[in-house]
Amino acid sequence: MNGMAPVITVDGPGGVGKGTLCQWLATRLGWRLLDSGALYRLTALAAQRRNLSLHDEPQVAAIATGLDVEFSAGENGILHIRLEGEEVSAAIRSEPAGNAASQVAALPQVRAALLQRQRDFRQWPGLIADGRDMGTVVFPNAELKLFLTADPVERARRRHKQLSENKMNVSLAALEREIAERDARDVHRAAAPLMPAADANILDTTPMSIAQVCEWAWRQARQRLEIPTQHRD
Ligand code: DC
Repeated sequence: MNGMAPVITVDGPGGVGKGTLCQWLATRLGWRLLDSGALYRLTALAAQRRNLSLHDEPQVAAIATGLDVEFSAGENGILHIRLEGEEVSAAIRSEPAGNAASQVAALPQVRAALLQRQRDFRQWPGLIADGRDMGTVVFPNAELKLFLTADPVERARRRHKQLSENKMNVSLAALEREIAERDARDVHRAAAPLMPAADANILDTTPMSIAQVCEWAWRQARQRLEIPTQHRD
């Protein structure tokens, strides 16, 4: 096949449901999935394991450049992530890991170090890219750009449900505080702040179920892309 594989970018703040939507789209289309947040989480974890300060930009960027990570799809499309050979899929999902990720994600040298690694995920038959700057910086020429938003209180509730299902206990009030802090850091940072691309389709998911969000995204995908017949509903 000629040319670049198609990409659908899905950006938005934490707890909005991007991960669930992206997994659904990737499974439905049989496309690859880029969980870019995992790369920032892994960078932070690898730096902490080496006792580096998360503010030490050159050192943390060096970690990002040399990140020894392997993504593999397990049953039901669940992503398995190995850092230096060790399964860390659960370890990087905790709230402290998310906060550490948000700190290293504010460092321009770290973002630059991860740029090409993210673009390398663009392979046939296509890619679903989940993150904060997928449509603005990493894949500015994506075929379709989606941007999800939701009220912070609702996002804290969704995160709480997800963490409880994974047997991680965090209070709802603490999550609301952390989500507010993380939003502020992601939106106000100088390097690739969280914002919709000018040509993104924006959806406020606050009153919606995940099934409704998936249906909306599928409609956009069908309108914008040439979906092969076997994937049509
Ligand atoms: O989506 P997530 O919660 O796994 O992301 C963790 C942190 O990484 C989040 O606070 C912001 C940062 N991030 C980013 O800056 N750019 C991305 N493309 C993805 C995540």
